[in-house]
Amino acid sequence: MNGHRRRHIRRAELAAAGAFLLAALGAVGFAVGYAFGAQTQLEGVALAVACAGSAAGLGIGARRLGPAGGHVEEHGGFASPELAAEALADRVTEPGRGWRRGVLVRLLGLAVGSIGLALLFPLRSLIAPRLPGPTHTLRHTPWRSGGLRLVDTTGRPVRADEVTGNDIVVVYPEGHVGAGDAPAFVVRLDPSRFSARPPAAGVGGIVAYSLLCTHAGCAVGLYEQGTGQMFCPCHQSVFDLLAGARPVAGPASRPLPGLPITVDSSGFLRATGDFSSPPGPGYWSRP
Ligand code: FES
Repeated sequence: MNGHRRRHIRRAELAAAGAFLLAALGAVGFAVGYAFGAQTQLEGVALAVACAGSAAGLGIGARRLGPAGGHVEEHGGFASPELAAEALADRVTEPGRGWRRGVLVRLLGLAVGSIGLALLFPLRSLIAPRLPGPTHTLRHTPWRSGGLRLVDTTGRPVRADEVTGNDIVVVYPEGHVGAGDAPAFVVRLDPSRFSARPPAAGVGGIVAYSLLCTHAGCAVGLYEQGTGQMFCPCHQSVFDLLAGARPVAGPASRPLPGLPITVDSSGFLRATGDFSSPPGPGYWSRP
């Protein structure tokens, strides 16, 4: 084999090795990106690099390292022609050729193996993780810390003596204004009109309930003072606050969860625990 041909083969081997290495890096990049939730576009680029690298490596190997051109084998004697024997000896004895081919084959294995492993990662998405259901997670809201003061939507603590029977006051736990599962309201009612005890302790006729409708989670913001009823504007569910906020009309089927409250020594309203049941819609808990 002449020197030019040897250089040609070495360059081809180097190019194929580089392509396989690139393919392995692309596959690893895809796997890491997928595991850490990288952008889909980046994952696509990494996968494309992996596939293109393997294709390029295999292409180079087939085109420049394999036998080239068409061959017609003349059947002569059984002994190897002298030239063929020389070529074989050349190939076998060429310094470094054996280990270079070994490295090339290993890199090919690395590229194919990495791509195979990387493609296992998306399978993870098909396995549903065991996450706690919403009934469990919504059973605990920021109110659970107990002892938190009730604050209005601006974060100002609410005093018991400023809660009247004229309208509701929307409240949050102190330090959690805007928390999605925590909005509640307080209003003062005449305890002698209660037909059922509130589901959570009130104080001096002041009751506190979740603001989230138990039908589909809208805010039940319309209070009718005369009847002591709360209306949900979304689908017209009506909750009777004098009867433990049970639904008396509309599609809601669960009472509004109550919030246990007390008055501290400074006259501020404080929660003594969490809602009496998970706030918001509860369709997931139905059989
Ligand atoms: S969300 Fe309140 S009635 Fe539908």
